Amino acid sequence: MRNFNILQQALILSAAAFSGQVDATPTVRVNAKVCNNYKIPVSITSTNLVFGLPFKNNLDVADFVTIAGSRDDAARAPVITGVNTTSRDFTIGATFCTPAKSAGSKKDIVLVATHGGLFDRTYWDPNLDKSKYSFVDWVIGQGYSIFYYDRIGQGESSVVSGYYAQLSNQAAVLTELTKLVKAGKYVGSVGKPKSVVLVGHSIGSNIAAQAVADDLTLADGLILTGYGFNQSIQNPKATFGAEDFRIAKGVKPLVWGKYDTGYLVPVDQYPIAATFFKKPNYDPAVVAYVEKTKQPFGIIEVLTSSIPNAPPAGYKGVAMILTGENDFIFCTSKCDQYGLEHPAVDAVFNQAKAFKATVWPGAGHGLNFAANAAGSFKEITDFLAANGL
Ligand SMILES: *[C@@H]1O[C@H](CO)[C@@H](O)[C@H](O)[C@H]1NC(C)=O
Ligand SMILES: *[C@@H]1O[C@H](CO)[C@@H](O)[C@H](O)[C@H]1NC(C)=O
Repeated sequence: MRNFNILQQALILSAAAFSGQVDATPTVRVNAKVCNNYKIPVSITSTNLVFGLPFKNNLDVADFVTIAGSRDDAARAPVITGVNTTSRDFTIGATFCTPAKSAGSKKDIVLVATHGGLFDRTYWDPNLDKSKYSFVDWVIGQGYSIFYYDRIGQGESSVVSGYYAQLSNQAAVLTELTKLVKAGKYVGSVGKPKSVVLVGHSIGSNIAAQAVADDLTLADGLILTGYGFNQSIQNPKATFGAEDFRIAKGVKPLVWGKYDTGYLVPVDQYPIAATFFKKPNYDPAVVAYVEKTKQPFGIIEVLTSSIPNAPPAGYKGVAMILTGENDFIFCTSKCDQYGLEHPAVDAVFNQAKAFKATVWPGAGHGLNFAANAAGSFKEITDFLAANGL
């Protein structure tokens, strides 16, 4: 646990509310896709770190900025007071979509997508111009099926403490969900998929990488967006301060009163713009949308995602990293090809069937909300298609 870099991870914002459909809800057909919403029971056992942290108030959160930004590495390590292995049951809110037309489709290739911090699962299909910002509609248009879900603590999934939700239990949830998908569950009428590809954004990429590290055969493809393995180009010190966090339940008591003080949220749209966007490559109305739909994120998720965790070394599937050229969090606002490729290509994906690192021009950390997001969607599906997926 030494070299505990406090906040390398991204927090993201969330998007529109769901209609609250439960279980085998009526099928909806929009834009040539067939979607089902599910509430999925999962049981996991995970080994969780316990931190001596609870924030009593926003002054504690403010003080954490000085801790996270300290040039004293020892001071930057919040105290881990214990390790707790527990088994718990959750309900996961999820959506599965598949192309309406089978002919010529790749519907038996299922993408399983994990959103990052500050968003819920609508990150993949926001209530914005779908042709520009919907990853779901793009992949459906390319013939794939997609399963996307809310991380525990977020959206329609079980509310848990912000001092509990963390990389280990989120990865365990993703592993269970992926096994269900591989068994043909919660995938509409698709049946057992031919292939499964894990897709993540930011903390969601951390979670996908961790799930594959835990089981190298879990997925045929691994697409990590808004992410990187190169610690030396990440920006942990500045990130926490730039997020300008407040305890979420004080910001919107009616909506976020369900959360304990472990959930934090950027106070307004400006820290969001600073950490997830880059001028001129965005529409200001999109920043306003992200502000309106933002979701709090759990502090321990952020902390445990920034500990150097065992990467999925030895993975033999198809792997990609795609990160914005100006990503503030993972590249200190300057991603370079070499930095995204290394050490990934040397130490993580040296046995992969295929590996590609893409610096996505002009974009910040919030890739799917950049003006040129759709081009990055094409980059991903072109890479999959070129490698048999
Ligand atoms: C460990 O987990 C148990 C069961 O969830 C819980 O009751 C207990 O408070 C946890 N201990 C710590 C130190 O978090
Ligand atoms: C991380 O990226 C920097 C910038 O490209 C590079 O100099 C360095 O060698 C990379 N680190 C590793 C471990 O590959």
